[in-house]
Amino acid sequence: MQLIVPSLLSADFANLEKEIRAVEAAGAKRLHLDVMDGHFVPNLTFGPFIVEAIRRLTDLHLETHLMIENAHKYLDDFIDAGSDTVLVQVEASDNIPRDLDHIRSKNIKAGIVINPPTDFAEIDSFMTIIDHLLIMTVNPGFGGQEMIEDALQKVGKAKNYQKANNFLIEIDGGVNLKTIDTAAKTGVDLLVAGSAIFKNENHKKAFKELSEHL
Ligand code: DX5
Ligand code: ZN
Repeated sequence: MQLIVPSLLSADFANLEKEIRAVEAAGAKRLHLDVMDGHFVPNLTFGPFIVEAIRRLTDLHLETHLMIENAHKYLDDFIDAGSDTVLVQVEASDNIPRDLDHIRSKNIKAGIVINPPTDFAEIDSFMTIIDHLLIMTVNPGFGGQEMIEDALQKVGKAKNYQKANNFLIEIDGGVNLKTIDTAAKTGVDLLVAGSAIFKNENHKKAFKELSEHL
């Protein structure tokens, strides 16, 4: 089954509880949390303190996307804050197997993220040790960017490995009513949508409309 995963990046943080309730009411099963450090990406968002606050607001599965340098130093903070999945950028880690082992040792799901310019060959060897693969379909840093459709080819490559290994494949960036049919056709499991949901006044309707294309 394919699912839309709302990204809170484009939500109104002055009304976070209301924003979360809207996507819960629409049927969302997971929330995507974008953590940015101003170094790995040219933007800053929030840290474990906010993840912990979101945890107290919802029982939805929280996937925390770490766009930060030296992610291994902060893994425990994001795990203890209540993440259900932690995702580490392959471009920002010097030891992905170590990071994945660490995350999984805390009994939550562990995954990796690959940026559009990074070749799939860089992650071949990790396919047997991940619970989750996040394929960026924009260069990370900001919501509301246009999808880089070439990056969708990585979904097909990942699916060859998915037959022998049990992991989820997700895409992130530029999912909206214009791109969703092309994106869904790849057979990807999860599709992150930020601005397409939260910049639309009716979040519930926007979520449901996207879901109808899956
Ligand atoms: C971008 C983030 C995305 C972002 C997607 O760096 O990783 O999760 O929220 O936003 P949209 O759906 O607006 O492209
Ligand atoms: Zn993200």
